[in-house]
Amino acid sequence: MRKNIVAGNWKMNNNLQEGIALAKELNAALAGKTVNCDVVIGTPFIHLASVASAIDTGKIGVAAQNCADKASGAYTGEVSAEMVASTGAKYVILGHSERRAYYGENPEMLKEKTLLALANGLTPIFCIGEMLEEREAGEHFNIVKWQIEESLFDLSAKEFGKIVLAYEPVWAIGTGKTATADQAQEMHAFIRDVLDGKYGKDVSDNTSILYGGSANAANAKELFSKPDVDGGLIGGASLGVDRFMPIIEAF
Ligand code: PGA
Repeated sequence: MRKNIVAGNWKMNNNLQEGIALAKELNAALAGKTVNCDVVIGTPFIHLASVASAIDTGKIGVAAQNCADKASGAYTGEVSAEMVASTGAKYVILGHSERRAYYGENPEMLKEKTLLALANGLTPIFCIGEMLEEREAGEHFNIVKWQIEESLFDLSAKEFGKIVLAYEPVWAIGTGKTATADQAQEMHAFIRDVLDGKYGKDVSDNTSILYGGSANAANAKELFSKPDVDGGLIGGASLGVDRFMPIIEAF
């Protein structure tokens, strides 16, 4: 059965010392507790190795927020999937809307990144989601389907079985304007249908689909109560243990 996952996305926040302190605080809050979901934190690259050695990685998975679309070589400033894996990180967030919008990431690059992540044993948390104009034009289902098809549908069923999806409507990210639980459920059910059409019921039933976009302690329970919402990708509210723990405990 698919897993419930609550994943934090720190984005470009916290220097190294602050990041280690936050990770340790979360680790302490989870110690001795049984929770009903997998917990992941997505840190900047420079934190990965230190955070992975400061926490119990059996309890908290560590994620990078990106990786290169090339395996190695003369790509100044890039960090490869192999390098990410060598830190002890187990996940990589790919295709976040901020990377698509500000750094020109396109479906073809994301296809390469996904293949490299999988080849290095990382679990991609692959983000998809429409912009406000697209929703207002009634194009949101088409856009999300297209984003999945273009980057992921060359994968075999076995490879796709290792992907976690995160539906993040761009208009809900960092805006305080969460999608309603019904809007999230509607899109997640649609995504599962798309996966079913391509890979069959086994893959579609077993793929975790997270919701992201202004999820917080106040709305997580309702979002997670929906049958096709398997957790959250949490930005702002993952930056404080007091705000992140209640989301984890919403399961
Ligand atoms: P937010 O970010 O929770 O701050 O809206 C979510 C995300 O971008 O992953």
